Amino acid sequence: MDGLIHTIGASAGTSSYDILVGNSFLHDAFGRREVTSAERIAFIISARIEGLYGEYVRTALGDIRGKSFFFTMDDREENKSYIYAERFLEKFIAEKINRKGVVIGIGGGVVGDFAGFCAGAYMRGIPVIHVPTTLLAMVDSSIGGKVAVNLTVGKNIVGLFHQPALVVSDLHFLESLSEQEFKNGIVESLKHGLIGDDATLELLEENDLRSIRGVEAISALVSRSVRFKTSIVERDEREAGLRSILNFGHTLGHAIESSKGYRGVSHGQAVAAGMQIKIEASRRMGLLTDYEANRVNALLKRYGLVPGGLDLDVEMVMRHMEFDKKNFGGEVNFVLLKGIGKPFINQRIPVDLLKRVMAEIC
Ligand SMILES: NC(=O)c1ccc[n+]([C@@H]2O[C@H](COP(=O)([O-])OP(=O)(O)OC[C@H]3O[C@@H](n4cnc5c(N)ncnc54)[C@H](O)[C@@H]3O)[C@@H](O)[C@H]2O)c1
Repeated sequence: MDGLIHTIGASAGTSSYDILVGNSFLHDAFGRREVTSAERIAFIISARIEGLYGEYVRTALGDIRGKSFFFTMDDREENKSYIYAERFLEKFIAEKINRKGVVIGIGGGVVGDFAGFCAGAYMRGIPVIHVPTTLLAMVDSSIGGKVAVNLTVGKNIVGLFHQPALVVSDLHFLESLSEQEFKNGIVESLKHGLIGDDATLELLEENDLRSIRGVEAISALVSRSVRFKTSIVERDEREAGLRSILNFGHTLGHAIESSKGYRGVSHGQAVAAGMQIKIEASRRMGLLTDYEANRVNALLKRYGLVPGGLDLDVEMVMRHMEFDKKNFGGEVNFVLLKGIGKPFINQRIPVDLLKRVMAEIC
């Protein structure tokens, strides 16, 4: 099944844009007005993607070849930095990228955030087009306009809301994605399922880690997740309230990752563990029934999302949670579920219960 499969319209604030989901259709996507109308095109491409798909990308350029400039990015998280961005912005000047130019980021969430930040800051903002190449970037980070770089003191500290002009999710790129990176994307889709996207939950239940990688299933998963996330962002672009339900599992997840010094546990594994802990705590608080908690745990298990032997230092996790930037006034607030699909924000979990559940599970 090659070509464009789904087109999803999104709007936020005063801007609206399309999200294209398809397979091996990059050439067609590069024929879109959002691309061809630019005077000069600055591609920020992951070095890994350049190595794996350089020929595919360059063959897709067609008529825009003459005005395309490639800037390769070593896409390690530590390079998603303010200092690295300054270097790229200086390269844009050297190649005479002007206000009639566009930035196209090709890579995972690191490249997407970085390219979006560079585009949003350059000459007070030029358009950005995202070409996400990981499942996480397709279902989550390319949607919603949050772009940021890291400072040495913390992640995503310097950022903007800069909505894309177009998102091109070409499933062909996913063929080379490792199983763990794939699972990191599944975790975000599962999150959407738990906070209100029933169709995604059912799709995950109908499949497993192997079958979900088929073009039909994965295009359905990506487009459902995209529709769900855009529906939230459309109602609350700047995270004044509703959008914070998208943080479900992340307060604990970030604390787990940082308590481990970002070693030996991926972001997706930490968020999945965070979800499992919250599901169990919610069950004990009488917010979820046994049936609902079992349903979620079955999915976490089916896709192998929570690694064994996490061996958490509970006190350390608690300490890191207090520093999470989403918490204010010194309180640790969570997004909880009062039933599957029914999130509510700014909730507390009794500290003793949280520690007990964490110690038992991880
Ligand atoms: N802006 C947002 O709303 C938002 C939301 C969630 C996450 N993020 C950010 O996204 C980043 C994480 O994104 P990610 O999970 O995509 O990680 P990533 O960009 O680090 O990519 C993960 C790994 O996969 C490799 N890779 C990328 N595409 C590949 C492909 N097609 N085949 C093989 N390997 C490939 C990369 O080289 C990298 O090693 C973090 O920086 C996070 O802060 C942003």
